[in-house]
Order: sequence, then C-alpha cells, then structure tokens
Amino acid sequence: MDRQRNVVWHNALVTRDRRERLNGHRSAALWFTGLSGSGKSTLAHTVEDRLHGLGFRTFVFDGDNVRHGLCSDLGFSPQDRTENIRRIAEMVKLFLEAGAVSLTAFISPYRRDRDFVRNLVGKNDFLEIYCRCPLEVCEDRDTKGLYKRARAGEIKEFTGISAPYEEPENPDLVVDTHLASLEHCANSVVNFLAVRGVVREISHEAVRPVGASGGA
Ligand code: ADX
Repeated sequence: MDRQRNVVWHNALVTRDRRERLNGHRSAALWFTGLSGSGKSTLAHTVEDRLHGLGFRTFVFDGDNVRHGLCSDLGFSPQDRTENIRRIAEMVKLFLEAGAVSLTAFISPYRRDRDFVRNLVGKNDFLEIYCRCPLEVCEDRDTKGLYKRARAGEIKEFTGISAPYEEPENPDLVVDTHLASLEHCANSVVNFLAVRGVVREISHEAVRPVGASGGA
C-alpha cells in the first residue's frame, strides 16, 4: 500500500508544548476498559467533571456515541472492533497534540488492540484504567437490556456472553466499580493522575467548582 506516498507531513507552529504551557497542564490519554455495564462511561464523565473543575481541557470519547458517527460503519466482529479502536487511537493521538486530556470509554476487549493504542500514543501519555466488574453484576444491572437480548441469541458476538473480554494483565490502575462508590473510584483516578504528574497538586481550593464564590 502506498496511499500516503504523495502526502507530506506539515509541522504546526503551535506545538503541543506551547499548548500545554498555555493550558497549564500536560495532555494525557485515560483509557477506560471493561465489560459493557462496568461503569466506564459514568466514571470517565465523572473524572472529566472533576478535571474540568480544576481548569483542564478535556474530552470524553464514548463507545456508544462514537458508533453513531465516526464508527457507524463498524460492527462487533474482532476485525471491526480492532478498526474501531484504531480510529479512536488516532483521534486520541491528535487530542494529545491539541493539549487535551482525553478520556475514552470503549470495551476494547482485545489485549493486542489496547497494546496497539499504548504503542501509538506512547506509554508516557497512556494510562490504562481497568473498570473491573464481574460479568454477573454487569448482567444484573443490564442498563441497556442488551445482556438479556444477547442471552436470547438476538445479539451475536456480545462481549462476555458470546465474545471474549481479555482482562488487562498489567493495567496502570484497577478500579473495582462494583465494590467502591463512584466518588471513591473517581478519587482513585484523580489521585493517580497526580502520581503520574498530569495533575500537579490537588488542593481543596483547586477543586472548588468553577463559579463558586469565596474570596479572592
Ligand atoms: S468495542 O468492543 O469495539 O470496544 P464499544 O465500546 O465501541 O465496543 O461499544 C460497546 C457498546 O456497544 C456496548 O456498551 C453496548 O452498548 C453496545 N453493543 C452492541 N452490540 C454489542 C456487542 N455485540 N458486544 C458488545 N457491545 C455491544
């Protein structure tokens, strides 16, 4: 394939470094992975809300939403899932250049796909966060009614039922979403970002909601 032969990379004048300095924080990719119903989206949006309150530039990519647009041509075969994750990985890479913290909520069931993202994005900017939750709990919640339909054979290749989920072997962070509260899980992620130097320091002053009164 030589589709890119006549395409030349154009370097930006406004670099990632300049954007990060303007924003006052590093960019990063928070990759939430786990079964459908394990709480990835809820947690990603809650963490985003916290980071936004700290003045961060953020964006959440959510599997269900992205599959309505950018990836609407894809299904759930292993090949289509790989392509889904590849497109998101490229998007996340652009968002890193844009100086943002992106938070992704995709099942991303295959280790090799997640490894692909880690390699493409670079391991210093990529944080794999495993939303660990037993299948029985996800199935019991069944917020979208999809597990029931998958059990009835109406949905093929459903993760956890008729398609595999390969647990992360060495995730950067594990959150047990069925054991800990949403608040606790969100704190774990934000504290972890401090450890990794994405969030510099967390003070009560800093986490006060934007627009709250209280002096200077
Ligand atoms: S991934 O495997 O390619 O990462 P993605 O996160 O984009 O999946 O989409 C998962 C969402 O699609 C689920 O939360 C669920 O709502 C819906 N869905 C529909 N069919 C399936 C299926 N066969 N397997 C898993 N999720 C499905």
